[in-house]
Amino acid sequence: MTLADLKQNFYNELQTLYSQDEIDAIFLIYLEDKFDLRYSPTQNFEFEAEANEDLIALKAGKPVQHITQKAFFYDNLFYVNEYTLIPRPETEELIEIIRNDFPKEEKLSIIDLGTGTGCIPITLSKIFTSAKVSAIDVSPEALKVAQINAKNLTTTIHFYQKDLLEELIFDEKFDVIVSNPPYIRNLEKAEMHQNVLEFEPHLALFVEDDNALIFYERIIAFAQNNLTNNGTVYCEINQYLPEETKLLFEKAFRKVEIIKDLSGNYRMLKSTEIK
Ligand SMILES: C[S@@+](CC[C@H](N)C(=O)[O-])C[C@H]1O[C@@H](n2cnc3c(N)ncnc32)[C@H](O)[C@@H]1O
Repeated sequence: MTLADLKQNFYNELQTLYSQDEIDAIFLIYLEDKFDLRYSPTQNFEFEAEANEDLIALKAGKPVQHITQKAFFYDNLFYVNEYTLIPRPETEELIEIIRNDFPKEEKLSIIDLGTGTGCIPITLSKIFTSAKVSAIDVSPEALKVAQINAKNLTTTIHFYQKDLLEELIFDEKFDVIVSNPPYIRNLEKAEMHQNVLEFEPHLALFVEDDNALIFYERIIAFAQNNLTNNGTVYCEINQYLPEETKLLFEKAFRKVEIIKDLSGNYRMLKSTEIK
């Protein structure tokens, strides 16, 4: 079988689930991240049986990153599994905002709340090489993944298993509190892709419809005790609730800014000057 034959199999099997552009992207990720191959139509492909099995899983909606167990985030390769959210491009934009706010050599103390694969603290630790970086998650399985990533990417992150919905006690103050918490309401499930709904951890994604901002309330409470005087909170937010989230932060902070992502949706929030 050639790589062109394999690509055709991908189109045949996945066309009911994905657009052609999506299949092209999945195919290239699959080749590169699983077999370290670039696409060359006439090249012989010898792993037909394995690819057939993977196609069955892809057809069932499994994300390609769960098959390769790899995801790129901000130029680094992260190990991912079913317990962790696959890092998203919007979260790279959040990193970019933080990157532009401080000199690289700044001795920041940073904490990430709800770390998943550890993509945020690990990336920030690579940018701000003098920073002390901590991270929490409630999920022990996610923390195992984050620890593997920190080791693979040669960073030192202080990980803690803690529940953000309970009182979070740290006898330390942070210059940067960052979080991409669960924020999707159940009512938004209808517009989500099957592969996210069935294969990504619901713990990482969903909140109750009538309590959608609960994690932001907890992040604010944590900031009230643990943000330095000049510190900043950075969050990813629900694009359908930017004003509501801003109003919530304005109860506790003098300066609150909501920021659009590259698709033009309000997806990030930055707040400073606690009242
Ligand atoms: C939207 S994911 C973000 C993961 C990662 N930071 C990223 O941007 O890809 C939210 C994370 O919050 C964690 N989480 C959910 N409930 C939590 C809680 N009560 N306390 C702490 N972490 C929680 C989940 O396990 C998940 O890793």
